[in-house]
Amino acid sequence: MTQPQLIVGPGALGRLLAVRLSELAPVTLLGRRPPPTRLALTAPDGHIVQRRLTSETAASLAAPFRGTLHLTTKAYHAQAALDGLAQKLAPDTALVLWQNGYGVQRTLTRDWSGPVLCATTSEGAYVTADGVVHAGHGETYLGHLHGAYADLAERLAALLSRAGLHCRAVGDIDTRLWHKLAVNAAINPLVARWRIRNGQLRDRPFRPLVEALIDELVLVMEAEGIAPPAEGWRARVWRVIEGTANNRASMLQDVLAGRPTERDAILGPLLDAARRHGLEAPQLSALYDAVG
Ligand SMILES: NC(=O)c1ccc[n+]([C@@H]2O[C@H](COP(=O)([O-])OP(=O)(O)OC[C@H]3O[C@@H](n4cnc5c(N)ncnc54)[C@H](OP(=O)(O)O)[C@@H]3O)[C@@H](O)[C@H]2O)c1
Repeated sequence: MTQPQLIVGPGALGRLLAVRLSELAPVTLLGRRPPPTRLALTAPDGHIVQRRLTSETAASLAAPFRGTLHLTTKAYHAQAALDGLAQKLAPDTALVLWQNGYGVQRTLTRDWSGPVLCATTSEGAYVTADGVVHAGHGETYLGHLHGAYADLAERLAALLSRAGLHCRAVGDIDTRLWHKLAVNAAINPLVARWRIRNGQLRDRPFRPLVEALIDELVLVMEAEGIAPPAEGWRARVWRVIEGTANNRASMLQDVLAGRPTERDAILGPLLDAARRHGLEAPQLSALYDAVG
């Protein structure tokens, strides 16, 4: 039998994982308040899947939990969510971190007693009153920051793939997280700051702002020793903008809804790296201040 899967953070990504994985494994969805016990997932082709799930809070979860814990909160809630549960978890519980950015990945890999895998995904999902819409299929990559636990990564990637999320275990998740972070940093804060869709970055007055950001990002990545994508940074950023032209980035949605943004997880590591290497990063700093 497949190991129990505990999903902490019953938002868009957590609900998507919960419904999909519940076809293959015992799944518990855990929130600050008890999440719904019945969820409807609307697939990208419009097909609707209904699932009953076990719903818990940190207080109600039976201890000790043994299995895999998928942490699907926003980056700024991840550490507190895990701290609130830690007493209930067997010390060898495997964590999968789904957060965008590159912050909690480093600290939890260092501090957690069991295996920690990081995931980066381009799946798209959003919450509805009674469930979740899986807006578009993407690719998910999974691995340990320093290449450990390869067998576990293979097993979990196979499980996620069987559940319908294309997932591959990789030995270079560190580089992949940096790459996603850099591309996100060139797009998300700008569209959030100016309240525009991604595609509008192709036009004046935004195009030169993207170019200036790429210039800063290239220097930071070089100094940090992160190899550029095969196609080069400029081509990568513009390709993503083209491919997501109609999107409202999650950071823009957060700003529009008056929620905190993931700026610390996305811009924070770049500004830290710039400082460490004595580089100026005026565009990145200004955006950090502007998006709140
Ligand atoms: N959605 C996507 O398509 C997508 C795609 C790629 C990557 N990501 C990344 O995945 C992460 C999650 O994104 P999301 O869109 O799913 O966010 P979301 O919809 O805001 O969901 C986050 C969930 O975490 C819950 N939470 C916060 N603190 C908690 C705690 N202490 N214990 C349990 N649950 C807690 C929140 O509940 P409350 O209602 O109590 O706040 C909320 O339900 C982000 O880092 C995001 O960048 C998302």
